[in-house]
Amino acid sequence: MRTITVALGAKTYDIEIAAGLLDEIGPKARQLSKAVKAAIISDSNVDPLYGQRLERSLAGSGFEVTRIVFAAGEQSKNLATLGYVYDQLAEVGLTRSDLILTLGGGVPGDLGGLAAATFLRGIDFIQVPTSLLAQIDSSVGGKVAIDLPAGKNLVGSFYQPKAVFIDPALLQTLPLRFLHDGLAEAIKYGCIRDAALFEQIAAIDDDAELLAQIDSIIETCCNIKARIVENDEFDTGERMMLNFGHTIGHAIEKCCGFTTYTHGEGVGIGMVQLTRQTEKMGLTAAGTTDRLVKVLQKFALPVAAEFDPQEILQVMALDKKKSGKQITLVIIEAIGAGRLHKIEWQAIPAYIG
Ligand code: GLY
Repeated sequence: MRTITVALGAKTYDIEIAAGLLDEIGPKARQLSKAVKAAIISDSNVDPLYGQRLERSLAGSGFEVTRIVFAAGEQSKNLATLGYVYDQLAEVGLTRSDLILTLGGGVPGDLGGLAAATFLRGIDFIQVPTSLLAQIDSSVGGKVAIDLPAGKNLVGSFYQPKAVFIDPALLQTLPLRFLHDGLAEAIKYGCIRDAALFEQIAAIDDDAELLAQIDSIIETCCNIKARIVENDEFDTGERMMLNFGHTIGHAIEKCCGFTTYTHGEGVGIGMVQLTRQTEKMGLTAAGTTDRLVKVLQKFALPVAAEFDPQEILQVMALDKKKSGKQITLVIIEAIGAGRLHKIEWQAIPAYIG
C-alpha cells in the first residue's frame, strides 16, 4: 500500500494506492464515516464493471448502498445529469451524515463531487477513480465541476474528499486510448516538475511495461499534485502550474466538439503547440519540443491538430486563466522546470502559433 497525505488542516486526507483496494473500501470507509447510507455515483461504462464489487464491500461494512448511474461521456457532465443525481439522492433520503462515493473517471468524479459539495449543503465523499487520468489528477485536490455549453468546468467548487482510494488493477480494463489519455497528464507532471518522471516514461517501451510501472507513476504524480494543492488549494498561484498545455488544449477540445480529442490528447497537443512557440522565443531550452513530441508519439498521442486560430482565441477569451487584459500561461523553461508566464492578452496569438 502506498499512502500519500494531502495536508490541508481540518480537511487533511489520504490517497491510498494498492492493487485490489476496490474490495477493501467498505472497512476503510467505515473508519472514516458513521453513515447509515452510502450512494455510489458512477457511469454506464464503469458501473457494470465495478459497481457491484464496491457495493458488496460497502454493504459488508454495514452501509445501505444505492447505485446512481448515468450515461458515460463528457456530454453527461451537465446540469441535467446533476439534477438527475440530486433527485436520486433525495429519493433514497440521503442525510447530511451519510456518504457519497464517486466511482469512475473524471466525469463521475467531478459531477459526483459537485453533487456531494452541494446536496444538503455538503455531504462527505470519497473518490474511487478508475481511469488513469482520474487516478493521477482529477480525483485529487477537490476541484469538482460540471460543463456549460459555453465551456468546460464553468460551474463548480473546491470540495475536498475524505479519501481517495486508487486501485491500479482497474486500469487493466481501461481501453488503451484512455490509458494513453491519462499518460499525457503524467508527462505533463514530468514537464512542469520532475525530469526523472519524464525520463522514466520516455524509457518505457510498450504498454505492458507501462502497466508494470504504473503504481510508481501514479504515486509520483499524486505526490506532486498533493504538494501543489497543499501550497495553493484555491488555485490562485502555484496550482495554475497544473494547467500546462490546458489553455490551448481545452480550446482545441471545445472547438472540436469534445468528441475528436480526449482531454489528455488535447493537453498533449496544447503542450507541444505552446512549447514549440516558447522555444522559438528563446524562453524554452532548445530541443525540448522534440523530446516532448517523441514521448507523446510513442504512446500514440497526437501532437498537432488542424484548427482555426481565431476560433481558438474566442474560446480562450472565456478561459478562467484570463483576467482582465492579461492571461497567465504555464510554460516550461526545460523538462522538469515549469513556470507561470503572465502576458498581455494582445500577445497571445504568438503563443498559439
Ligand atoms: N486539474 C488541475 C487542478 O486540479 O488544479
